[in-house]
Amino acid sequence: MVTESKVGVVIGGGNGIGAACCRLMAQQGWRVVVVDLNKESAEEVAKELGGSSYPLDISDLASVELISDLVEKDVGPVSGLVVAAAAFQDTKFAPDEFPMDMWRRIVTVNLEGAFNANRVFAARMARLGRGSIVNVASIAGHGSSPQHAYGPTKAAVINMTQNFAAQYGKSGVRVNSVSPGAVLVARVKARPPGRYAGDIDSQMALGRRIEPEEIANGVEFLLSDRASAITGTDLLIDAGWAVANPWSIFGGVPGPVTQQQ
Ligand SMILES: NC(=O)c1ccc[n+]([C@@H]2O[C@H](COP(=O)([O-])OP(=O)(O)OC[C@H]3O[C@@H](n4cnc5c(N)ncnc54)[C@H](O)[C@@H]3O)[C@@H](O)[C@H]2O)c1
Repeated sequence: MVTESKVGVVIGGGNGIGAACCRLMAQQGWRVVVVDLNKESAEEVAKELGGSSYPLDISDLASVELISDLVEKDVGPVSGLVVAAAAFQDTKFAPDEFPMDMWRRIVTVNLEGAFNANRVFAARMARLGRGSIVNVASIAGHGSSPQHAYGPTKAAVINMTQNFAAQYGKSGVRVNSVSPGAVLVARVKARPPGRYAGDIDSQMALGRRIEPEEIANGVEFLLSDRASAITGTDLLIDAGWAVANPWSIFGGVPGPVTQQQ
């Protein structure tokens, strides 16, 4: 076994925001362990970074326990965890039409899965006496949207984060979340147009959407000792979606001020 003080596990690290977190963490000196339901994409990211990878369905507690044992044995004690795995939904379903098997899968992956990961790794970090966890929530957890399964799971993840922060703070474990707005990951870029009414970029205060690396910046900051006094917080990284949203009934946020000569 190699002992290493800065081992970071990223669940959902095979794609999108999780993969961007893996890359930045590796740059910042973490030994990155890429964990994902998609074995191949986890292996690819791990190969690129010289890290290790494990396949996992986060919704299965026994598998999360097994992976935590394997990582500790093969790589070393874990002091960083990012939970970026999620199941997503179409926005077309009214509540009375929502397929309940889909609703349960989203709740099971996003909420029960996040609880599984926090439960297993926070307890281990507490026994180690140090550690930091960042859960990837969403702006969808901050207010209403037509995401009748996904939104409530993300609101719950923000609350769960606060509970774990209070539970394990005196054991040296910090637990925070980030809430991304609209992020241009490959999954989103591959979507057919029509999800949003009008030009989504112009509805953001910053006039654009977000790159996965910009979410990773917030995640890695919260994970690191630079955030040593921050626990139980949720960091909104949304390109100003939340502040611009109430302006929609007034015709939206203004365009840029014209530069003077
Ligand atoms: N992209 C956005 O606009 C956006 C906005 C707000 C929040 N988020 C959140 O960011 C996180 C990452 O999303 P993304 O956009 O990068 O998605 P993504 O699809 O690019 O990546 C998600 C990864 O999670 C993995 N995964 C899915 N189910 C899993 C399971 N049961 N167990 C383990 N791994 C599993 C997938 O295989 C995939 O590699 C999610 O929590 C998502 O809710 C994304």
